[in-house]
Amino acid sequence: MDLQIRRATLDDAATVSRLATRTFTEGFGHLYADGDLQSFLRDSYAVEKQRVILQHPEYAIWLLERDGVAVGHAAAGPCGLPHPQAAKTDGELKRLYVLGSEQNSGAGGRLLQTALDWLERDGPRTLWISVWSENPGAQRFYARRGFEFAGEYEFVVGNARDREFMFRRVPVVSIS
Ligand SMILES: CC(C)(COP(=O)(O)OP(=O)(O)OC[C@H]1O[C@@H](n2cnc3c(N)ncnc32)[C@H](O)[C@@H]1OP(=O)(O)O)[C@@H](O)C(=O)NCCC(=O)NCCS
Repeated sequence: MDLQIRRATLDDAATVSRLATRTFTEGFGHLYADGDLQSFLRDSYAVEKQRVILQHPEYAIWLLERDGVAVGHAAAGPCGLPHPQAAKTDGELKRLYVLGSEQNSGAGGRLLQTALDWLERDGPRTLWISVWSENPGAQRFYARRGFEFAGEYEFVVGNARDREFMFRRVPVVSIS
């Protein structure tokens, strides 16, 4: 069976919205009261919001597809994290989600690498990722690619507040 990654286009806004809703709910939905979850999903993953992101030249979304059906997605853009050292020119992995049935086969790693390559398309730069403090699997996954803990903040899901970690990767400067 064929697993492929492609850049999402404006026509994919509804697919991205549906998949983002499904993967967030599958991974983290049990943590929140229904009202908080629904409010977060509405704010973050509305079709219209995906359309805005997909049209923005500084943002990109990718779909992981199995036989043409979307089973994972990643999103990237300028860093918007509340860290005192985060610069406007830094990049951020905004989302990375693969359906549970497709996890642990390397697909998430490929999706992440696609987003990181795009973020560094004009050369190495500082990159950021936000990850839930109680998601050690994802933290290990990012650490293996050179990301290190850089601070924490509160992630808002409706009326709920999560402890969220900021991970950062600074380009290696060679001294000659
Ligand atoms: C994180 C995620 C994208 C990785 O995708 P994947 O296809 O499973 O990744 P790969 O097969 O390339 O690599 C497996 C690694 O992912 C991590 N991982 C595996 N299952 C995971 C899970 N359910 N949740 C979080 N991380 C997981 C582990 O670090 C694993 O490495 P290990 O060998 O050190 O345990 C995927 O597990 C996922 O979508 N998880 C749920 C949502 C999530 O946590 N997203 C990250 C938000 S910051």
